[in-house]
Amino acid sequence: MIRHDVVVVGGGLAGLRAAIGLASHWDVAVVTKVHPVRSHSGAAQGGINAALGHAPEGREDSPQQHAFETIKGSDYLADQSAVLAMCQLAPGAIDELDRFGAPFSRFPDGTIAQRPFGGAGFPRTCYAADRTGHVLLQTLYEQAVRREIRVYEECALVRLAVEENRCHGAIVYDLKRGRFEALAARYCVLATGGYGRIYRNSTNALINVGSGIGAALVAGAPLKDLEFVQFHPTTQFGTNILITEGARGEGGYLLNRRGERFMQRYAPRMMELAPRDIVARAIQTEIDQGRGFDEGYVHLDLRHLGRQKILERLPGIRDISIDFGHLDPIAEPLRVQPGQHYSMGGIDTDVRGRTPIDNLYAAGECACVSVHGANRLGGNSLLETVVFGRLVADDINARRGGPSIEPQPSVLENHLRQVTGRVDEIAGRSGGTPHHEIGERLKRILTEKVGIFREKRALEEAVAEIVALGQRYQAVGLRGPIGPFQSEILHVLELESLLYLGEITARGALAREESRGSHFRSDFPDRDDRQWLRHTLARRDGEEVRLSYADVDLSLHEPSQRTY
Ligand code: FUM
Repeated sequence: MIRHDVVVVGGGLAGLRAAIGLASHWDVAVVTKVHPVRSHSGAAQGGINAALGHAPEGREDSPQQHAFETIKGSDYLADQSAVLAMCQLAPGAIDELDRFGAPFSRFPDGTIAQRPFGGAGFPRTCYAADRTGHVLLQTLYEQAVRREIRVYEECALVRLAVEENRCHGAIVYDLKRGRFEALAARYCVLATGGYGRIYRNSTNALINVGSGIGAALVAGAPLKDLEFVQFHPTTQFGTNILITEGARGEGGYLLNRRGERFMQRYAPRMMELAPRDIVARAIQTEIDQGRGFDEGYVHLDLRHLGRQKILERLPGIRDISIDFGHLDPIAEPLRVQPGQHYSMGGIDTDVRGRTPIDNLYAAGECACVSVHGANRLGGNSLLETVVFGRLVADDINARRGGPSIEPQPSVLENHLRQVTGRVDEIAGRSGGTPHHEIGERLKRILTEKVGIFREKRALEEAVAEIVALGQRYQAVGLRGPIGPFQSEILHVLELESLLYLGEITARGALAREESRGSHFRSDFPDRDDRQWLRHTLARRDGEEVRLSYADVDLSLHEPSQRTY
């Protein structure tokens, strides 16, 4: 059995930042399904928000303003003190990344450059051209290497070893060896990202299957607000590769087939820089009402920005457009459509990153603190990773010298036995239903029935169909042997989480009879604060899923109408 003081599951920005903060006090290890620099944090393009103060025309940005706009953007579902804490820590987080060597783009006076982003009243988004996530990931990985942090690559979480509400470690699948291993730890930190791959059209990497969220649910943790799914307005038509909001931040226009800047109809003041929920719905409406292009897209026109600006600020977008869309944005408008991008919901977590399970923490997209509520503002997810990764490390560090909490080997052995027993059972069903058939069906259901626009009948069908898929899942078998680099067994185990997460997303959306942020019910088009200004909590009860509700922290701003 492998043993460390702290095991961080996930090698993206949240996981690395937590590990860096822990390394001088604890024996910490990072367990990751892919090499850390291949983590999905690297796909974030446009930037990271922080009120650094130097706003144009003598106006001063502030963390309080950042917090207010984040809360308004969240359609008042975010927990307000948590948002303020994140926004107050943002300038320090940027300073730290700068000192770590992150190559941020700069203004001519040498200060870190900031661009406008959706829902923000100031140009608050710090960036490194349009490869911000990529450079931050390289920067934090360098810091992890410098601290000689142990990394177990190609090891995927399959279960948490939790007994009597206390986490003793994790059971992982070592892809290189084709073997299951137990990792004992005093503290476990989940930083496993989102579960966007329950949708067919998604900007998410194939690794984003919600393994940490699923494992926490199975271990007894509540999941919060899963019905709030962010659809990014501009993904490349056909591939759904992200086309950064930075393209609109730099001045790009959205045009329908008539050549109209249609955002005039939906958000006359902020236009293309309204928050994502509003822009995604606007684009989908144009397409659905026949003003988009026939195959189902609108244009994102960057030509007026000029060659120089595109090459300097949006080089990655140009490469993606040429390589995957055969269009050069210097000469032609891009074809874009909305696509699933981010999970606002996740493991119920407090501002220190503690989950309701003792010694189990979560940070980043897999966690729901909640700082994004019903709709996240662009640029706040990179921020969330480094701020809450750090806060998790601070909290665990503060517990040094506390009561001894050694993990119990017998608990880990027991969980390892249960996992291998289950794997033997699955392997014994060779020739059963292929897992990919169920996975593809699940994606189709979510995409068609739990999308940007939702309504009762389709949601009811979605729930019933996912439950039926869960029954078919019981017959899934393996087509090949388990062994080194045989990932089939992992996909089969991950599919179980995906089915749960899909069901909770659909059930939460069906229950919530209002429209708020990214959750739009065509049959309940208004926000209903009286009944629904509350978080959804989902727990597993045997094989069933149960929903309950919890208050929102409204300590700073009264909810008001959201106009842009
Ligand atoms: O559009 C983007 O560059 C994405 C940023 C984000 O999700 O925060």
